[in-house]
Amino acid sequence: MQRIDILAIESSCDETAAAVVRNGREVLSNIIYSQIDLHSLYGGVVPEIASRNHIQTIDRVVGAALKEAKASLSDMDGVAVTAGPGLVGALLVGLSFAKGLAFAAGKPLYGIHHIKGHVAANYIEHPDLKPPFLCLIVSGGHTNLVLAKDYMDFQIIGKTVDDAAGEAFDKVARSMGLGYPGGPLIDKISREGNERAISFPKAKVHANPYDFSFSGLKSAVLNYQNIAAMKKEAIFLPDLAASFQRAVVEVLTEHALKAAEEYAVDTVALAGGVAANSCLRRTLKEEGKKKGIRILYPSLRYCTDNAAMIASAAYFECLAGNVSRPDLNASPGWSL
Ligand code: KG4
Ligand code: ZN
Repeated sequence: MQRIDILAIESSCDETAAAVVRNGREVLSNIIYSQIDLHSLYGGVVPEIASRNHIQTIDRVVGAALKEAKASLSDMDGVAVTAGPGLVGALLVGLSFAKGLAFAAGKPLYGIHHIKGHVAANYIEHPDLKPPFLCLIVSGGHTNLVLAKDYMDFQIIGKTVDDAAGEAFDKVARSMGLGYPGGPLIDKISREGNERAISFPKAKVHANPYDFSFSGLKSAVLNYQNIAAMKKEAIFLPDLAASFQRAVVEVLTEHALKAAEEYAVDTVALAGGVAANSCLRRTLKEEGKKKGIRILYPSLRYCTDNAAMIASAAYFECLAGNVSRPDLNASPGWSL
């Protein structure tokens, strides 16, 4: 088998990451520098701070990725980079750096769609995974249910019509004074709570039964807190967190399994930061088992933003001959 090694860079949000991956599935290195501590001071990602920190760290992160892979740039078969969607300033740092490397070393450049990267995280850890399968991509910026018909051919089955699932976790956590990013904190305190304590509405989007809406749920949580404050009643935060989490997880699970049945696929893969949620992983697995549907998810380090997933997606772009032009630009709103 031919050996294809790709160096990838990811800088679409608040992680500066670089990785070397062989043949799309074997990770030789995976370096992630997270800026979370810098942004948590402000309760969310500050785009200008993100761009500036990418500039300060990208050189070291890429150097560390090559070093850990015991390779040099000349050994690479291509340079891949997230070209969108994401924060434009943040994307431009990774993109300019990758273009410079590819040009200097005479290597092909692959501009990768961030969401295709999240899907590809599943190829890294499940060597036998092949399309077709359904993928539920749930992150801070995206909520998409897609049918991966082939490695590079995706059909969107459902999407959020307002907040992304991770965004809802972050906003609700903020209202509860938990800090940023909220997803892992809600996940943690929910373990002490009763998920049936409070009944929250499950939003239905009538135009498409596979679409998602989380803003009504977010408002319901805020209303619950306001009413309790007016009545001067104390709230047991773990119950509130667990009930909110349950409402999100139920809707994600129902849509994903219903779509798997309608589109006759036997595998549903999870991807994106919210795929790290313990309740979502457990519930989808249990419910999938009842219906004979295989549920896959990447390990935690490949759920949140990383460059190994970008290198994996680039491998399939490489096989398809989809080399990017040298004038590749950042696409902050690139649709799938
Ligand atoms: O994929 P990601 O790193 O960045 C984007 O592309 O957006 O996802 C970050 C999101 C944040 O909203 C964070 O709160 C959420 O993933 N997240 C979680 C968990 N871990 C991270 N949400 C729920 N439960 C978790 N355990
Ligand atoms: Zn992401």
